[in-house]
Amino acid sequence: MKNVLSWILVLFLVVSVLNNCLSSKVQKEVNQRNAFIDNLRKLYSSGDSSKWPKPILDPESAPSFVEIGHLPNVDFPDDNQYSAEKEFLGKTLFFDPRLSKSNQIACASCHDPELGWSDNRTFSFGHDRQLGTRNAMSILNVAYAKSLFWDGRAKSLEEQSQMPIQDEREMSEHIDIVAGKIAKIKGYEILFEKAFGDKTVTKDRISKAIATFERMIKSSSSKFDQFIDGKSDAYTNDELMGLHLFRTKAQCINCHNSGYFSNNQFENVGTSLLGEKGEDLGRYLVTKNQEDAGRFKVPSLREVTRTFPYFHNGSMKTLTEVIQFYSLGNPEFSQKRSTVHEGITLNSQKSGMVRMLELSNEEISQLEAFLRTLSTKSEKIDLPELPK
Ligand code: HEC
Ligand code: HEC
Repeated sequence: MKNVLSWILVLFLVVSVLNNCLSSKVQKEVNQRNAFIDNLRKLYSSGDSSKWPKPILDPESAPSFVEIGHLPNVDFPDDNQYSAEKEFLGKTLFFDPRLSKSNQIACASCHDPELGWSDNRTFSFGHDRQLGTRNAMSILNVAYAKSLFWDGRAKSLEEQSQMPIQDEREMSEHIDIVAGKIAKIKGYEILFEKAFGDKTVTKDRISKAIATFERMIKSSSSKFDQFIDGKSDAYTNDELMGLHLFRTKAQCINCHNSGYFSNNQFENVGTSLLGEKGEDLGRYLVTKNQEDAGRFKVPSLREVTRTFPYFHNGSMKTLTEVIQFYSLGNPEFSQKRSTVHEGITLNSQKSGMVRMLELSNEEISQLEAFLRTLSTKSEKIDLPELPK
């Protein structure tokens, strides 16, 4: 009996010693992790991005790499400098459906300020309720885009603004007819005079005014901006870890970089569906370079919670889906990845920067938590009164 009792005692002692060792090991790990997070928080919110941990970059991203950070000031082109009068005229035109053939569709129909300056639809409805083939892009922060549209076919906002007016599926009106229509509206005379010195309406002036208005549609300071500026308690641990993953293990920063969160390049992430229903040749349509087949403009991630659905074809509804897609390195095995266009065989060559990331579910949700900090609340905007 005595023997049994002492054995139990010994066993008890051994177990409790082991248990102690284990829990102090766990405790040590917890402490280490907390110290790691505290240190990251200190570095990232130091107000000086040169103190941040080094990003993990692929060599091919280097030529266009700019560290993430605040949006810089907007540059206005020499031949279209800013004035408040021009901005006001541009805003009025942007909301005026008389720029369309049916007098029903304004730029704002598809770029609605309450819907993140987009329309939150997979594809937009335009003239005669025709469906387009691409997802409407938000025009928030568009001043920072070096070229416009998913394929970059417009080089400036001035050039871009005439395109939807003339696009048969969008506003379907000839730009000269639009200029004539606007010139006949008495109330516009004073607006053109204030903006350009006299009341003459030209398509060039219409474009310049709309472009000026668009350059002013910018994000206000986001949680991310406040955090990196020194408000160290602005971020939760998950948001902080998400920022770190974005720049390191997940390597999103290879393409989504600078204050605009886009390197303004065209990349193939394997979304072009070549040879399948819904195929889109992307950048190839503009350059006719075979390696551009399936490349699209890298979109900004600022305001990303407001600009769903995602990708050029609006094929993904949630950020979780998008991050899971990247985590798997977008396996396109089931796709043809090849098509014949105008007698030329085109193959989709996915960027080497899109590869299996093996993110855990926790890491996926941390990345998402970080992306959400790039959005701001939608501002109430006063709609202009349409001139009579
Ligand atoms: C019927 C819906 C519709 C209307 C109306 C419309 N857009 Fe768009 N907009 C789109 C779609 C769809 C895209 C993307 C098209 C593409 O990439 O081929 C786009 C893209 C853009 C872009 C490019 C943004 C970027 O980041 O590259 C700008 C700028 C823009 N539109 C401004 C305008 C202006 C200005 C007007 C009015 C003159 C207008 N849009 C009217 C649907 C519309
Ligand atoms: C090789 C460059 C590249 C890398 C790396 C990359 N992206 Fe992208 N991203 C793109 C391109 C190009 C698109 C547009 C694709 C399309 O429209 O079909 C895009 C689209 C997106 C969109 C949709 C935005 C919208 O408005 O439609 C999100 C969100 C996004 N990326 C997040 C991420 C995250 C998170 C990572 C890291 C896990 C990442 N990206 C890594 C190039 C890249």
